[in-house]
Amino acid sequence: MTGHFLPGTDGVLFQRDRAWHPPADTPGYKSSTLRAPRHSLLSFGPTRSEMAGPTFGHERLGALDNDLIRNFSQDGGDAIGQRLVVYGQVLDENARPVPGTLVEFWQANAGGRYRHKKEGYVAALDPNFGGFGRAITDAQGFYHFRTVRPGAYPWPNGGNDWRPSHIHFSIFGHAFAQRLITQMYFEGDPMIWQCPIVGTIPDRAAIEQLIARLDRHNTTPMDALAYRFDIVLRGRRSTMFENRLEGN
Ligand SMILES: [Fe+2]
Repeated sequence: MTGHFLPGTDGVLFQRDRAWHPPADTPGYKSSTLRAPRHSLLSFGPTRSEMAGPTFGHERLGALDNDLIRNFSQDGGDAIGQRLVVYGQVLDENARPVPGTLVEFWQANAGGRYRHKKEGYVAALDPNFGGFGRAITDAQGFYHFRTVRPGAYPWPNGGNDWRPSHIHFSIFGHAFAQRLITQMYFEGDPMIWQCPIVGTIPDRAAIEQLIARLDRHNTTPMDALAYRFDIVLRGRRSTMFENRLEGN
């Protein structure tokens, strides 16, 4: 075991394997070069507002917040697309469930288009699809939501690069400074292995951990397919979080 005990706690700290996450500067993903740090990292303690500030949304979830098929409906109809249930468990480094944490998700519509004023892709907007929602993990750390499968979309990187179908995830933690952000992909999608952003991750097992598994057992009969996506917050098998490439 490579972990060591933290003084004053009964847990084990599992040191992160830094080969698991991609380097910040990966030229195949062009804009990473502009964002990558050019100086060594400095460490700051938490500020008072980070420690004592409010957490958002935990008590304010609406009945449709975890239903992207209906939560933006303009005419009472459902969003267009392959109907899905996406669910999973949020776990800590010791595979213990993390209850009561806010999980947010956002995605393109079935045609691969985001509802965003800077979105320029030619695919049509779906008037009944907003593309975002949120859920709170239950006592066993599970979240779930209904949505439609997002389409692949092109992006200006290498001239003809496409993002595979994916859903963006945020796990809020106890304060904004703890927020973790990642992306979920779909089992069996060949586009995953052609994506320059996915290609920045050197470890195939780390990529596999970002791929949700088709779960026939939890499909909604005559309605929706199910995909399972578990999220590990820390440790050697941490999910890759794109806003914490330096560690979390
Ligand atoms: Fe995206």
